[in-house]
Amino acid sequence: MPAKRFNVSVRRHDPTSGESPWFQDYEVEVAEGVTVLETLLRIQAEQDGTLAFRYSCRGAVCGSCAMVVNGEVSLACRTQVHGLGNDRITVEPLPNLEVVRDLVVDMDFFLEKNLDIRPWFDPADPDPPHERLVDPSDWTEAEPYTNCILCASCHAVCPVTARDPSYLGPAALAKHHRFLADARDGAAEKRLALVDDDAGVWGCDVVWNCSKICPKGVRPTQGILASRERLKPKS
Ligand code: FES
Repeated sequence: MPAKRFNVSVRRHDPTSGESPWFQDYEVEVAEGVTVLETLLRIQAEQDGTLAFRYSCRGAVCGSCAMVVNGEVSLACRTQVHGLGNDRITVEPLPNLEVVRDLVVDMDFFLEKNLDIRPWFDPADPDPPHERLVDPSDWTEAEPYTNCILCASCHAVCPVTARDPSYLGPAALAKHHRFLADARDGAAEKRLALVDDDAGVWGCDVVWNCSKICPKGVRPTQGILASRERLKPKS
């Protein structure tokens, strides 16, 4: 398919200026296979050097480029412009986080939630002389949760994070389950106590938005429900 002309409408905002956000339109020729991130880089290089956005790996690994493209939370580096099925593209920053400038959001609020769930391995046994191996069959539950790239896509689509700043949020609760499900970890009781309230696993609305949107296939809701099961009083 030949290159096609697209109208790319980007939400601009500089909160330090006191001005309200606005949408700025750019006309750009885009070849098939080109991503939203590559298109933004071209706009920035050829039309508007003031356009701000964040990226690093360009390969869906670093989690820096999550944004809202045509109303859907997406990684810009893996979203192809022609695949959007529309010659008018809107690009906006992630919701539920403060805008620093244009498409750049302040990630501190999101990242600090991860510190609240003891995000470190806490073994019950003394260190072995060599590495601490895990039997593959004991790793199947924890393994999917290690794929999180901290892109905050789940945070952006969660109705609870939108209304309750005290909620730990899907990414932190997914990381919590990564350690809880690790057969080598010895701190289950302490870990469960950290999430046994409405700011933790009991606050989740169980609408599965986070699990549907995660670009790496992590399913925070599943981990949250597994923690709830472990917290229920045993009869
Ligand atoms: S640039 Fe790293 S995930 Fe997109």
